Amino acid sequence: MIDLDLVKRSLQKVVPRVVFFECVESTNLTARDLVLEDPFGPTLVLAETQTRGRGRYDRIWVSPKGGLYMSLILSPKCASDKYTLFNLLAGCAVCHSIRKLYGLNALLKWPNDILINSRKVVGILSEVITDSLGVPWVIIGIGINANVRTVDYSPELHDKLLTLQDALHKPVDLNELIITTLQSLFQRITLLENGNHAAILDEWRRMNATLGHKVTVIDGENEITGLALDITESGSLLLQTAPDSIVCVNIGDIIHC
Ligand code: BTN
Repeated sequence: MIDLDLVKRSLQKVVPRVVFFECVESTNLTARDLVLEDPFGPTLVLAETQTRGRGRYDRIWVSPKGGLYMSLILSPKCASDKYTLFNLLAGCAVCHSIRKLYGLNALLKWPNDILINSRKVVGILSEVITDSLGVPWVIIGIGINANVRTVDYSPELHDKLLTLQDALHKPVDLNELIITTLQSLFQRITLLENGNHAAILDEWRRMNATLGHKVTVIDGENEITGLALDITESGSLLLQTAPDSIVCVNIGDIIHC
């Protein structure tokens, strides 16, 4: 159960507005509506379930009760060429929180999926929009398979995803997870705003499961295979596709990792 008062009190220094819904279509869409109707400042949108949770590439993020679905709205205080780093820092924040709270070996798959035992536990969808005055806002949407059983998802997902409840053999405290994740997020946002991008990139490198592996990245019709060498200053993936060829990939899904 989400205790809204506890979440609000614990996060009041960093998030002055927290809104909770039992059910929305998508917390990212609700966040977008809030920015367009009433741009306010850092805001957290929480929902118990989503009817059409959005994943990357317009995929559906299946959102049964017991999972954690939230979107953080903020007005970025950094140059626009650094907005892509919100994606990586959000992954680092959630991965760090899961390790700290539960001691699980959570790993980042480029750009920001979080895996445990090679199965996906967390998905992150960051979007940038502008309000009616042309001010940019970042929406960081985070979905965590928390207090749900893997068997409660459709069978084709069983070997692809994992839930925290199944990894730990007991449910987690959602309030603690929300609060720790948001605190971790804001620590890393401060790093970005203070120009310490290197710390974010280094943390991502320390917790990732992609670099050093031969991977295939798919973006629509395009497919590219190579050895994942490193990430760039803006979070793109450097792939060695031949002895004398290094390709920089900005976007895509990794299928072999
Ligand atoms: C992905 O891995 O494809 C990203 C999934 C992101 C899902 C979260 S759930 C909370 C927020 N609201 C959404 O509609 N999507 C994100």
